[in-house]
Amino acid sequence: MNHTSGVPTSTVPEPGAVPGPARLDVHLTEADADRDLRADALHGLTATPKELPPKWFYDARGSELFELITALPEYYPTRTERALLEESVDAIAKASGADTIVELGSGSSAKTRLLLDAFARAGTLRRYVPQDVSEAALEGAIAALGTEYPDVELRGVVGDFTRDLDRLPRGGRRMIAFLGGTIGNLVPAARREFLQHVHTVLEPGEQLLLGTGLVIDEQVMVAAYDDAQGVTAEFNRNVLTVLNRELGADFDPAAFAHVALWDAENEWIEMRLRAERAMTVRVAELDLTVEFAAGEELSTEISAKFRPAGVRQMLAEVGFELSEFWSDPDSRFGLSLATAL
Ligand code: SAH
Ligand code: AVI
Repeated sequence: MNHTSGVPTSTVPEPGAVPGPARLDVHLTEADADRDLRADALHGLTATPKELPPKWFYDARGSELFELITALPEYYPTRTERALLEESVDAIAKASGADTIVELGSGSSAKTRLLLDAFARAGTLRRYVPQDVSEAALEGAIAALGTEYPDVELRGVVGDFTRDLDRLPRGGRRMIAFLGGTIGNLVPAARREFLQHVHTVLEPGEQLLLGTGLVIDEQVMVAAYDDAQGVTAEFNRNVLTVLNRELGADFDPAAFAHVALWDAENEWIEMRLRAERAMTVRVAELDLTVEFAAGEELSTEISAKFRPAGVRQMLAEVGFELSEFWSDPDSRFGLSLATAL
């Protein structure tokens, strides 16, 4: 692994709240990631229709591309959620009283600074635990936050939020943040299982801060996933570059068109990669040959959008009470503060 940021790393299981300098705990090693990628690629490329899970977008380049997406004029979720946080963070800090903010799929932690500042103003903040599958994104975030928040214990965790929640730090009073609408990238069964797991990890009275994209005008939603500059298209094709590098595959990313569509029945945006011509792809490390027909599509991501009542219900089903719900004037995005019962 490449620890260029100089952030100390550890593979030692979480021992509890230990004050000290910024550190990165690796719960998902390169060997684990390699095994998971092989399993996902083998399953997904031999399935009908073909599919790949979105977590493989996020190598260093993919994480960079996501950051570029967040600044695109068409991509409203990030700036809308940021505005909601700006208006609500002090109330969140007051209602929560948490000394530890755990963030799942934290990426660059850009918006989280609003939370850190509010919890610091409230005088409760002691520890921030960002967890992400992307070691590159975490290293960058931790290095910057270490300078910006010298009094906060920073404990980065390289892990998969669908699996590694049990090993997150315990103790203190915690709030788990899951922002950006990333919950929408999970299919319904995985989403429910994930929320159930988050509920199990929390003590009664602790909170979940959840960002969700909301169902709005179809054109506005689709444009957010099919921007004029083609950044999202590059992000989408990046998963093929990851397979080429990690599994010795010979995909020609340029031969795949970016597709973003609204699935009205499931109420999600789906991103696909459409083979522009018939082709045979070899995945050397899997000893696998994959045939694509001209026009065949590989599904790479769903991004489910919600309705406020659906958010409340989804949370209630696993034992959360919705304490507060913030939304913007155009109802594009929802921010929920939920309390574990
Ligand atoms: N929360 C940030 C980043 C969202 S992008 C924001 O709101 O802007 C989604 C992030 O989730 C990426 O950083 C990606 O690396 C991470 N991610 C995706 N799947 C994951 C998984 N299964 N486990 C942990 N992190 C994951
Ligand atoms: C991380 N996640 C919430 C983003 C989304 O909007 O579903 C990922 C993304 N895909 C394309 N653009 C952004």
